[in-house]
This record gives sequence, structure tokens and C-alpha cells, in this order.
Amino acid sequence: MSRLALLGGQPVRKEALPWVNTMGPEETAAVVEVMNSGCISAYYGRAGDRFLGGPKVLEIERDFSQKFGSRFAISVNSATTALHTAVAACGIGPGDEVLVTPYSMVASATVIVMNNAVPVFVDIDPETYNLDPCQIEKWITSRTRAIIVANIFGLPAALNEIMVIARKHGLYVIEDNAQSPGASINGKQAGTIGDIGIISLNYHKVIHSGEGGILLTDNPDLAHKCQLIRNHGEAVVDDLNDHETVVLGSNYRMTELHAAIGIEQLKKLDPFLLQRRALAERLTAGLKQIDGLKGVTIPEGYEHSYYVYPIQYSKEAWGISRDTFVQALKAEGFPMGTGYVKPIYWLPMYQHKRVYNQTQIPFSLIDNPIQQYVKGICPVTELMYEEKMIVADVCRLPYTETDIDDVLEAIEKIRSERGRLHEYETHGVSSA
Ligand SMILES: Cc1ncc(COP(=O)(O)O)c(C=O)c1O
Repeated sequence: MSRLALLGGQPVRKEALPWVNTMGPEETAAVVEVMNSGCISAYYGRAGDRFLGGPKVLEIERDFSQKFGSRFAISVNSATTALHTAVAACGIGPGDEVLVTPYSMVASATVIVMNNAVPVFVDIDPETYNLDPCQIEKWITSRTRAIIVANIFGLPAALNEIMVIARKHGLYVIEDNAQSPGASINGKQAGTIGDIGIISLNYHKVIHSGEGGILLTDNPDLAHKCQLIRNHGEAVVDDLNDHETVVLGSNYRMTELHAAIGIEQLKKLDPFLLQRRALAERLTAGLKQIDGLKGVTIPEGYEHSYYVYPIQYSKEAWGISRDTFVQALKAEGFPMGTGYVKPIYWLPMYQHKRVYNQTQIPFSLIDNPIQQYVKGICPVTELMYEEKMIVADVCRLPYTETDIDDVLEAIEKIRSERGRLHEYETHGVSSA
């Protein structure tokens, strides 16, 4: 084996990867059509036929509802606003607790605080990195209203098991399916198994419209609430002389331009997933031959959508730290992320319980909280973040099977030279 690039040798990959661009002539034509129509957004923030948006917004909602087999699809301008809409539609508010994974993009928990409720973090499963159903019940109190389940990295959480627990305790399940459109359990689409689910259309996702979000639900009351929250609902219920519906609206509306892009991207979801799955399966097969690096584990009946590819690292098997391994891999031309994200409860907002001003609202609204945000409450999450998780973004366009083979070659090169890396790690230099 040749000398490691980190120690002065030639890297396995000589050129940087080309920039990703999943936009094609179809998206451009769709945008031009909207521009020529002059109708960039068609909403009115009051009751009437424009309350639900213009033609492209209605079309993207029909398309998502059909594709995902969900009775209602409601478009908004991001997955964060979609999640907040879902929390608000479920009637979650001050004094409530919501269970949530700490191993997700921060918005999964932020939206709880945005409605003045309090997140209670539930640890993850070490194989799937998703919320562990066995850990849920110990955190349920009389104040618990819902569970926000993130389907992380492209793999659905154990949603069937979680739904059983939720029904037993009368809790809503909100699926944060931002990362996993097209994933499924026994043929049922992720994002449609809980009471309400959301999808992100931000730039990083498998399909995107720059920014955007979609809510999916079969429940007509939740769907109606979502439409109200998206578009100044407190004025609309007044127009309708509806004095019963409790709603605080906002402007979470998607533009006609973003809808037009999203419509075209949705048509490409299946071919994009086909490519991602082929690359991921090659990587999984390669990793099976390498001690100390665990690829994805997919439960029976589940389909992964490979937003990113998580690899679990074993320092014991390699004799060097994860960070040195990733540094060596980066030098070979394959940058990868370490840890994914900090456990959310380690962030300053939770540590100091300061959100709006010097009060501790909403945290102070709870007497005798069941959880303190201290180290050790979710040990699996903390271990993944600190020692084990490596996030590889190699199972997407424009990577090819040759690139996957190059990644595996770089890993093998590092493995055979790990003695020298150990010296480098210990003394800052290597003998050869
Ligand atoms: C799990 C998860 N939830 C929510 C979001 C928020 O998505 P958006 O950027 O569309 O608001 C993201 C975005 O990365 C995410 O990964």
C-alpha cells in the first residue's frame, strides 16, 4: 500500500467532486411559465377561494397527496414551519411536554419550544439511530401530549411500535420526515404513518425547491388547522364567524415559483432514489468486509432513502480515534462528518433555559420536570456524537460506483497503515 496522503503521500482521489445540481430543463421551464403568468403567489390572508393558494400550490399538494397516499398534503415554506404548524395544529401549548429525539436537526425540538411547550428527550437505538421505542414510556407524564419522531438519515423510525405506545397513552405522533421522503415500512410511506408528517424541500434534500415543506395527514381536522395556521388563521376564523377554533396563524405560504420547482422534482424522486440505493448497497457490501466500520442496518420490511450514509466507527478495532481516521480519509479526498449533531439538550438554550428574555419560560411553566438536561440522559446519542458516528454523503449524484470503490480503497489504505496513524496521533509525527 502507498503512503497515506495525511502523512505526505498521494491521495486516492485526485480531483474534487463536481458540484451537485439536480435542476434540469423541466424546472427551468416550469419557473419560466410561472414568471410569464405574473402570478408568483396567489394567496389572500382571508376567507375565500384564494385562502388555499394559487394553481401551482394546489397542484403540488395534489401531487404529494397522490404520491404518498395521504388524504391531505399542505404546502408551506420550509420543513421547520411545517413542523411548527404540526405542533400548533395538535393544540400543543404552555405546560405541555413533547417527547422527541435529541439526535436530529435542531428544528425537531425547537418547534416545541416555539409553542411554549417543553421537550423531553428520548434516547435512540444504536442500530438505526432513531428514537428507541423501549425508552419512551419512562418519560411519559400526565403533561405529555405528543411524540415527535424524526426518521433520520433516510431510515424510518420504529413507527408501528411507537404508534402502539402513542395510542395507549393518547398521544399524537408527528413524523419529522424531512430527511426521508420515499422511505417506507412494509410499503407504507414514511411521513404518513404518524398522525401528521412533514417533508423538507430545502436545498440539501434528495428532492428540493431551494426551500419548502409539505405536511401530510389523513385527518381532516388537522389538515384544516394547518391551512389556517399557514395563512393568518385568526383573521379567517373571524371572517367565518367561527368562535370555537383556537388558532394563531402566521405566513408560512409557499410561492408559486417554489411549488412549480417542487412539482418537477417530485417526478424525479424515484429515479434519484434508485441511484442512491445502488450506491449505498455497494458501500454496505464493501463495509461488511472491513472490521470496525459498521454500515447501515435496515430492519425487515423497511426501505432506506439514503439522505446520507451513517457509518459506525469502532476505536477498539482500529486503534486510532475516529477523528484521526476521518482526517486521514479527508486527506485521501473523501471528507466526511463526525458525530452528526450534538445531543440537542447540550445546546446553550437548553443548558441555560433561556429562550425569549431573562425568564425561563417555557421551562419554568413545568413543576417538578421529569427530565433535567444533564449529561447521561441519552447515553447512546452521546456515544454516537462523541465517538462513533461518521456521516458519509457519498450515495448521491454525481457519485458513481467507481467513486464508492475509491472510498473503499481509501479506507483499506488507511487500515493497512493504521500503525503509522497511531504514531502520528500519539506523537504528531510518523516514523516513515
Ligand atoms: C430532521 C430535520 N428536520 C427538520 C429540518 C428543517 O428543514 P428546513 O430546512 O426545510 O426547515 C431538517 C433540515 O435539515 C432536518 O434534517
